[in-house]
Amino acid sequence: MRVAMIGTGYVGLVTGACLADFGHVVTCVDKDPAKIEGLLAGRMPIYEPGLDDLVARNVREKRLSFTTELAPAVRDAAVVFLAVGTPSRRGDGHADLSYVYGAVREIAAAVEGFTVVVTKSTVPVGTGDEVERLIREVRPDADVSVVSNPEFLREGAAIEDFKRPDRIVVGTDEQRAREVMAEVYRPLHLNQGPLLFTARRTSELIKYAANAFLATKVTFINEIADLCEKAGANVQEVARGIGLDNRIGSKFLHAGPGFGGSCFPKDTLALLRTGQEYGVPLRIVESVVGVNDARKAAMARRVIAALDGNIAGKTVALLGLAFKPNTDDMRDSPSIPIVLALQDKGAKVRAYDPQAMEEAQKILSDVDYRSSAYDCLDGADVGVIVTEWDEFRALDLDRVKRLLMQPVIVDLRNIYRLDDMKRHGFRYESIGREG
Ligand code: UGA
Repeated sequence: MRVAMIGTGYVGLVTGACLADFGHVVTCVDKDPAKIEGLLAGRMPIYEPGLDDLVARNVREKRLSFTTELAPAVRDAAVVFLAVGTPSRRGDGHADLSYVYGAVREIAAAVEGFTVVVTKSTVPVGTGDEVERLIREVRPDADVSVVSNPEFLREGAAIEDFKRPDRIVVGTDEQRAREVMAEVYRPLHLNQGPLLFTARRTSELIKYAANAFLATKVTFINEIADLCEKAGANVQEVARGIGLDNRIGSKFLHAGPGFGGSCFPKDTLALLRTGQEYGVPLRIVESVVGVNDARKAAMARRVIAALDGNIAGKTVALLGLAFKPNTDDMRDSPSIPIVLALQDKGAKVRAYDPQAMEEAQKILSDVDYRSSAYDCLDGADVGVIVTEWDEFRALDLDRVKRLLMQPVIVDLRNIYRLDDMKRHGFRYESIGREG
């Protein structure tokens, strides 16, 4: 099947490469010539484990190609995926759909024959109706079916998530489009997750409801962690104790510095706006947004408290900057407010991240970027675990202790055992556990 993928961001590139790997012939289109040039030369615009090999293999097999020319790619395709960005709109926090609508106009002008236009981008409920209206406006004769097919890929595990999905959601009432989508995903739904057909608006809302629910789960355990600290309980054991109840489930119960990334913050905000538009205030989601923002802003205070309030002139070594491991994504990362608040209080900030330092440099200035975790900790007054990269889990703790000026570790991800840290003689502050 011939597929056109509009947008070679994180979602478009992973989805396009994975569909090519199933045997479809995929053309990825992007307006940015530098991006396309890089991809043609084998350079990935993002860091995602396994993506470079997957792309290289499918380019070699001639199932995957890259171009800036939208029209020919769309003309030849039976399915056109829209995977352009939908960032938060400045001012009101709603999803900015200008990239989606811009691409739709171009697609409408180019389609030939029956074409399924699939919205992969995360778009507010009702956007499919508007996409359809736009296409009809530009090309009243077009034989097009507009389908919603949200993605549930986690950064850092996207290829695995694509190939082993819990479910594939396809929103359309049209039988012709259902058949095409069943064919697109045939390799997956034969053995893997179920293909769930719904109405288009339902599918659009499933995406936001899923992300808002997960964000709520994380925020819930973060608040319970605060209570654990005051009440002398251990949040990891509470999470295990509640997570073994199948109705709750054990995933997404890791307490930490608050959620970040390119999805949860923007999608929770956009869902709030949708609720307002429909006169249905989503009070739980509203609390989640507020609690999470306050939490990220408060994390620096934990570092300051670990040095008994004396932070001015002290050197703080941050291990991890990305919003989570296995990505170079810095969007809405908790590290940003932490660095800014520490600098504001007069601390000298150093940092090391295995992948995100280039991205971090675009956002955070006056940070002393180091080339390894040990180099970062050498001579610092306190070490702070901000992102739970695997390489930080296995640090030589004796060496860490020798390198630090004072044996103080603030661990915002709970990656060490309390007894280990005690045995090594650290002052160790973590989340929701007694130090
Ligand atoms: C999230 C969803 O998990 C995907 O299903 C969805 O497709 C994606 O958003 C999207 O909408 O595109 P992602 O943002 O890559 O994926 O990252 P997650 O692994 O979900 O983590 C989100 C945030 O929650 C991170 O800041 C992470 O550190 C935090 N988190 C997650 C916790 O603090 N504790 C947890 O137990 C889990």
